[in-house]
Amino acid sequence: MMVGLPDFLLDEDTRKRLEEMRQRGIEDRCRTAVPWDPEMPWKKHLTIQASTYRPLSLFPKLPVTECIDPNRISEEQRVVSEDRRWLYCTKRLPRGASLMTTYGRQRGTVMFDGPVEIPVLHYSHEDEGRWVRAPFMSLAPMEYFSLRIGTRLARGHTIVAGLGLGHQLIEVSRRKQVKSITLVEKSQALVDFILPRVRPHLRPDVPLSVIVQDVEQVISKLTGDVALIDIYPVYNGHRSQKERISSFAFGIKKVWHWGTMGW
Ligand SMILES: C[S@@+](CC[C@H](N)C(=O)[O-])C[C@H]1O[C@@H](n2cnc3c(N)ncnc32)[C@H](O)[C@@H]1O
Repeated sequence: MMVGLPDFLLDEDTRKRLEEMRQRGIEDRCRTAVPWDPEMPWKKHLTIQASTYRPLSLFPKLPVTECIDPNRISEEQRVVSEDRRWLYCTKRLPRGASLMTTYGRQRGTVMFDGPVEIPVLHYSHEDEGRWVRAPFMSLAPMEYFSLRIGTRLARGHTIVAGLGLGHQLIEVSRRKQVKSITLVEKSQALVDFILPRVRPHLRPDVPLSVIVQDVEQVISKLTGDVALIDIYPVYNGHRSQKERISSFAFGIKKVWHWGTMGW
């Protein structure tokens, strides 16, 4: 079997047989689908019942898109921030689509047994430029698995660095061990765009202060029990940046960085 060859080098019959094999793989896997639970243990290959996966939509009236490329999403299917650097949309993934997950150094996949709708945030480097194709943040299972490790450490006064879609901020505010939160986010436009949509989901008795600045510049002046840092464009971040942040967090008892499994 010529698996691994680029599609255009395959003859029609081989392509058909490969597609049938792929479909059979999807069918077999879909039969093992289990209900989604954000607290469920990570598994290398997980298949989720699509009907149970309902991530929070910050713009619930926005029509869903099937476009992967943010540059092709129609105006009606997206919301853009004032500075035109941030784009929010809800993408529909088809049955059998496979997404990556991580657990420390391990990599895995998650598949859904039906279509699912996933909120996605895209970024553009220029105010009138093209959108970066890879999502900046999304509410895919990977994010639940990787962020909950930090969220479970939140207590007392917790600093959350990196707003994104506000997912971790919401989860932190729901913890009864958390008494107050400071959000540090460097983009004022993102704060204006996303925070008003996130606020109604925060526990009202947990005071929230917002600092719009680079966390590297302010971390040395902050005090708190825990800081959860998710500002990294790549999983597990850049070692030197993580070390800089941790070593200047004089007034914070514990610092967690996205991609790490604990302290
Ligand atoms: C991946 S997103 C965070 C996602 C977030 N944890 C959530 O649950 O939705 C990264 C965020 O960090 C912010 N950010 C990046 N570098 C930063 C820095 N140096 N200081 C503060 N915020 C930063 C970005 O603007 C973005 O909002």
